This record gives sequence, C-alpha cells and structure tokens, in this order.
Amino acid sequence: MGTAHKIHCPASQTSMENRILEELILMSWWFDKKAVEQTLKLKEEFDISTYVETGVFRGINIRFWSYYFKEVWGCDISEEYLKIAKSKVQDRNMLLLKIDSPTFLKSITNTYKKMRREDTLFIYLDAHFYDPKLPANEKWVVKNELKALEGFRNCAIAIHDFDCNGLGHLVYDGEHLNFELIKDELSKVNPDFRFYTNTREFCEVHTRESIKGVIGLVEDEETLETIDYHSTDRLKYRGILYCVPRELDLRRYQLICK
Ligand SMILES: C[S@@+](CC[C@H](N)C(=O)[O-])C[C@H]1O[C@@H](n2cnc3c(N)ncnc32)[C@H](O)[C@@H]1O
Repeated sequence: MGTAHKIHCPASQTSMENRILEELILMSWWFDKKAVEQTLKLKEEFDISTYVETGVFRGINIRFWSYYFKEVWGCDISEEYLKIAKSKVQDRNMLLLKIDSPTFLKSITNTYKKMRREDTLFIYLDAHFYDPKLPANEKWVVKNELKALEGFRNCAIAIHDFDCNGLGHLVYDGEHLNFELIKDELSKVNPDFRFYTNTREFCEVHTRESIKGVIGLVEDEETLETIDYHSTDRLKYRGILYCVPRELDLRRYQLICK
C-alpha cells in the first residue's frame, strides 16, 4: 500500500478497520481476465452498449471499459477520487457524477425510462465501503443500491467480492456479502433474474507482464499498485455474482448456476 491520497481513514479507526478499507478499495473488475471475458460475452448476448459503475474510485476500471462499451456512466461519493477518475478519462464516452450511488441509480434509471429506452444496461455495483459507525440498515451500500433499482428489469448486474465457492469476499462485522444478505432486494429488481457465480478454476488474474498491450489497460502507477496489492489468494481470487434477465447457455460461459 502506498500513497496517502488513496483512502480516507478517520484517525479513530483501528488497524483492522483500515485493513478492511484498503481491501475494499483496491479490488477491481478488470484485474480478473475471466471476469472480463464473461462481461464481454454478456455484452454480446444482451446487446449491451452502456456500462454503469457505482464507486468508480480512481477510474482504472471505467477507463478500461470505456474502450469496450459505447457509453460509460459512473459515480463516486468522494470528490477527491472523482477528480482523479476524471483526469484519466477526459476525452472518452463518459458521464461521471459525484453523488451517492443509490441516488445515482434512481436518477439514471428514471432518465432511461423517460427516454423510452428498452436496451439492457450492464450495472457493476462496486460502491463498497466499510464504516463501523453506520447503523445496521446502512452498512451495506449494495442493499440500498438494489432497492434503488427495484422494478428495473432491463439490466444485468455484477456484484464483486461476493461470497461463493470459497472465493475471497467482503465480510463486515462478521456478516458476509452472500446471497442470503441480498436475495430479497434482488428479487424486487427482477423476479426473473437467473444467478451465476465464478469459481477458482474460472479466475485468471493479471500480472505486470500480462497487462502489456491489453486495450484499455495502462501501465500507470495506480494500475501497477493494484496488481502488486493482490498478493494473497484471498485478494487475488474474488467471488462474483452475475444476475441476468434470462437463462444462460453455460456451454458458452465459464460460470456455474448459483
Ligand atoms: C471498491 S472501491 C471501487 C473500486 C473501483 N470500482 C475499481 O474497480 O477500481 C469503492 C468506491 O466506492 C466509493 N463509495 C463508497 N460509498 C459510496 C456511495 N454510497 N456512493 C458512491 N460511491 C461510494 C468510494 O469512495 C470508493 O471510491
């Protein structure tokens, strides 16, 4: 872990809390080549042109996806991170807002409806943040994000750091980010959702060498720092939940049914 600008840790937080914060912040979707492959297959299968990300952090992930999707919409609650993210993606196909993620999701889905769009959005929920002072019902941003998406069927959702198949995942105060935690909210987004997860076999993470020449990945300080940070299996191999509007033909995907 390096530079001071990365993480807002109140002085009162313990080293355990700081460790959780660091872990949340540096996990990234682009880092797992298999996750990227599955996302591109879903993009093709559901004819998706818009990628949405909550919690864009320093923008490495949205910069990557901006090379693959026609438009990218993202938000972050931190002015500091958003500024860094914007500096990375200045000339690209982006809408980036400093806003709380549930409010952001409500607003983009309302706009989408007003525009009478019917296409499917790919929504990556990654505004994870651990604040030990938050009351139990506010602790998991992802639950409030799913509530904001209630009734919005035109989406495929990906949730990183999910508890499945023994892979690395989030645990706040002993509570795991698992299906039980979010199943009620998911069923209200789309009762027809089908659920899929990855396994250790279906993970393949990047190294400093493997990013060379990959479209959308840049060998900048922050990208290399993210790669170096993933030093243990728990950090490298992260669980993913995919929620999609209809059944997938698993001969085409490296995923298993939830
Ligand atoms: C895990 S990091 C995101 C990493 C990033 N998606 C990536 O792949 O590189 C979490 C980010 O969510 C942001 N965040 C936390 N709570 C939020 C909220 N309620 N609304 C929007 N952003 C939030 C944090 O500021 C932080 O930048």
